[in-house]
Amino acid sequence: MKKRIAIFASGSGSNAQKIMEHFKRSADAEVVLVLTNNPQAYVLQRADNFEIPSHIFSRHEFYETDEVIGLLKNLQVDIIVLAGFLWLAPKSLLNAFPNKIINLHPALLPKYGGKGMYGDNVHKAILAAGEEESGITIHFVNAEFDEGEIIHQSKFKIEPGDTLEMVKFKGQQLEHQHFPKVIEGLLKKMRS
Ligand code: GAR
Repeated sequence: MKKRIAIFASGSGSNAQKIMEHFKRSADAEVVLVLTNNPQAYVLQRADNFEIPSHIFSRHEFYETDEVIGLLKNLQVDIIVLAGFLWLAPKSLLNAFPNKIINLHPALLPKYGGKGMYGDNVHKAILAAGEEESGITIHFVNAEFDEGEIIHQSKFKIEPGDTLEMVKFKGQQLEHQHFPKVIEGLLKKMRS
């Protein structure tokens, strides 16, 4: 049976798109659900385009009920991928899917992680600090923001004069290139 992937995203979902594209052709795994806290998120349109079902949940549903967990269990989800999802995972979700939740972060953790460190905030902080390199981190999720075990990192150079847009673009290129493959690798390990 194919491994089953659920993606959580709060915004555009360009990484979700790359993951859906990658596994559309796979004999080993498939994306079975896209979840979001944001009814306006463009990721919902992207899921529709792939004819993948989606679920929108409220803060109350996510933190005060087991509805999301029930949905993921019913769908027999094997791995949960946070791709630009901005809420902290509740303990109940971590306990229901131990070592099965991974996150993408647009910096080289442990630098530039933690609460409030998402999207442009991260790149602005990196530029303000005059860093000469940055990169991406894919890590297991635990009860703290951006602190779980690191699975993968890749780096890019920041050249003098690089703007926010340039740094963001370089990071996004690495994310799109690596995230689907890292998920595939993890699923292969889960199989053996
Ligand atoms: C990605 O760059 C991801 O690294 C970042 O949100 C972006 C989502 O882009 N995640 C975080 O900042 C988490 N702290 P996307 O919606 O186009 O995939």
